[in-house]
Amino acid sequence: MTTEGQLISESAAWKSLEAHYEKVKGLHLKTLFADDPTRGERLTLDTLGLYLDYSKNRITDETIKLLLDLAEETGLRERIDAMFRGDKINLTENRSVLHVALRAPKGASILVDGENVVPQVHAVLDKLVDFSNRVRSGAWLGHTGQRIRNIVNIGIGGSDLGPVMAYEALRFYSERDLTFRFVSNVDGTDLAEATHELDPAETLFIISSKTFTTAETMTNAHSARDWLLAGLGGDAKAVAKHFVAVSTNAEKVSEFGIDTGNMFEFWDWVGGRYSMDSAIGLSTMLAIGSENFLAMLDGFHQMDEHFRTAPFVENLPAILGLLTIWNTNFLKTQTVAILPYEQYLKRFPAYLQQLTMESSGKHVTLNGAHVDYDTGPIYWGEPGTNGQHSFYQLIHQGTRLIPCDFIAFGQPLNPLGRHHDMLLANVFAQAEALAFGKTAEEVKAEGTPDWLVPHRVFEGNRPSNTLLIKQLTPETLGKLIALYEHSVFTQGALWNIDSFDQWGVELGKALAQRITPELESQTEPELTHDSSTNCLIRRYRKLKKN
Ligand code: F6P
Repeated sequence: MTTEGQLISESAAWKSLEAHYEKVKGLHLKTLFADDPTRGERLTLDTLGLYLDYSKNRITDETIKLLLDLAEETGLRERIDAMFRGDKINLTENRSVLHVALRAPKGASILVDGENVVPQVHAVLDKLVDFSNRVRSGAWLGHTGQRIRNIVNIGIGGSDLGPVMAYEALRFYSERDLTFRFVSNVDGTDLAEATHELDPAETLFIISSKTFTTAETMTNAHSARDWLLAGLGGDAKAVAKHFVAVSTNAEKVSEFGIDTGNMFEFWDWVGGRYSMDSAIGLSTMLAIGSENFLAMLDGFHQMDEHFRTAPFVENLPAILGLLTIWNTNFLKTQTVAILPYEQYLKRFPAYLQQLTMESSGKHVTLNGAHVDYDTGPIYWGEPGTNGQHSFYQLIHQGTRLIPCDFIAFGQPLNPLGRHHDMLLANVFAQAEALAFGKTAEEVKAEGTPDWLVPHRVFEGNRPSNTLLIKQLTPETLGKLIALYEHSVFTQGALWNIDSFDQWGVELGKALAQRITPELESQTEPELTHDSSTNCLIRRYRKLKKN
C-alpha cells in the first residue's frame, strides 16, 4: 500500500509503468496483433455473460502485469474489503459507501455503526413492491377516484439520471399503459412540457431527493403541487394521493406536506449517483414491475460478488479501471467515449457522466495533497450508429487519442430484417478501423491521387474496448452499471481520491442562492460581485422588464 501522504506517482509500480510506457509508446496495434495471432482471444474476459475484448488497447502482457502490481501496491484489495465491510471510506463526509448493500440478498449482513443494514434495505424493498403493485394494478386511486396513468419523477443528478436511464434502457419491459415523465431542470419548460397534456386526476408525482433540500427539485415539486391543485379544484387533501417522496429526510418530506407513510427511505451511505437501485428506482419499478426490478438487483449483486472475490487479472471492473488509468495517466488521454450500439441505452452515456465525473473529478488525495497526475477523464458519448455520422471523424483522424468503450448485444429486443447484423457490423468495423487504420500505401493502391492520399490515411493505433453481451435485460443492465461503478471505484482507489463526495458542486449553488434575490428584487440591489457578473445581472434585469 502507498504510505500515508505518498502520491501514487511516487510508488515503485508507477515508476515502472512510466519506464515501460517509454518502451512501448511507439508500438502499433497492427504490430502487436501481427506478432501474436492469439492476442484477440487472450486479452479478453468472459464472465457473468459479459465478454470484454480489451485486446485493442495499446498494451502488452507486461503492461497488464505492471498495472496489476500497481493495484497491489496501492492496496486496492484492502479498499474493496473496506467498502464491503461498511468502513467509512467516504472520509470527507465521514460516511460508509454501501450501494452494494442495496442489492445484497436477504440473509446477508453488512454493518454500519454496528447495525446490520440489510434488513432495512429489504423492508423498504417490500414497501416499494407493495406500492408499485397497487399502482400498476389500479388499486391505488387518485383523489377523484381515477386510476393513476401518468408518473412524473421530479429529481436531479442521481435522483434523475439513474431513473431516466433505467426507464429508457428497460422500456421494452415496461408497462405501456403507463406514461412516464422525468423533470429535473429548474427551467420551467421542463415541468411545463412534462405535464402539458396530462390529466392531474391521473397523475402521480414522485419527489426524489436524497436531501429534500435541492433547490431545483423543491422548486419543481412546489410548482407541480400548484399545477395539481389548480387542476383538482384546490383541495389540499389531493396531495396525499398524488405525491410520494423518496428521500433520507423525513422531516423535510413532511414539511412539504407529503405523508411520511408515502415516503420511501434510503440512507446517507448511498451516494446520489449510486442510488438508482435504492428507492430512487421507484419509477423504474413502476415501469418494469417488481420482478424485473429484483432481477436487475440480482444482476448488480452478481457483479458486486465478482468484483469482491475475483483475482484482479480476471476481474472485469478492476481490469476496466486499470485500463482507464493506463490511458489517462500514461497515454495522457483526456476523455472516454461511451458508445452503446443499443438504442435503449441512449441515456447511458449521460448517466455515466455523473457516475464517473462527480466521482473522479477531484484534484486532491484523501490526505488533502494536490495530485501531480490526472484524475477523472471526461466521459461522453452517443448511441451508435448516430455518432458515426457526427463525431467519429475526430476519433478516427483528429489529433487527440480517444479511448472508446463499444457496448453491444448479441440478440436484439426488436428483431427487424437485417438491422441487427448491420448494427453489429458497424461496432466491429469501427473498433477494427480505429485499431488498424489504413496506410498511405493502401490508400494509393486504391488509385487515390497523391494530393488526396494524406486526407484519406487512417493512422490507426487508437484504443478501444468492446463489451459484448447476449441481450439487454434487467439483469444484464444491473451487471453493466455495477461494472462501471466498480471501475470508477478502482480508479479512485488508485488515485487515492474520495470518489464519494462532491464538494465541487457547492460554490456555484451558494452563489446562485445569493444571486436569485438580486434578480428578483423590485429595487435596484447593491451588487458586490466582480464587474462581469454585476454587468450580467444588470443586463438581465433590464431584459426582464422590456
Ligand atoms: O449535484 C450534486 C448532487 O448532490 C448530486 O450528487 C445529487 O445526485 C444531486 O445533487 C441531487 O441531490 P438530492 O437527491 O439530494 O436532491
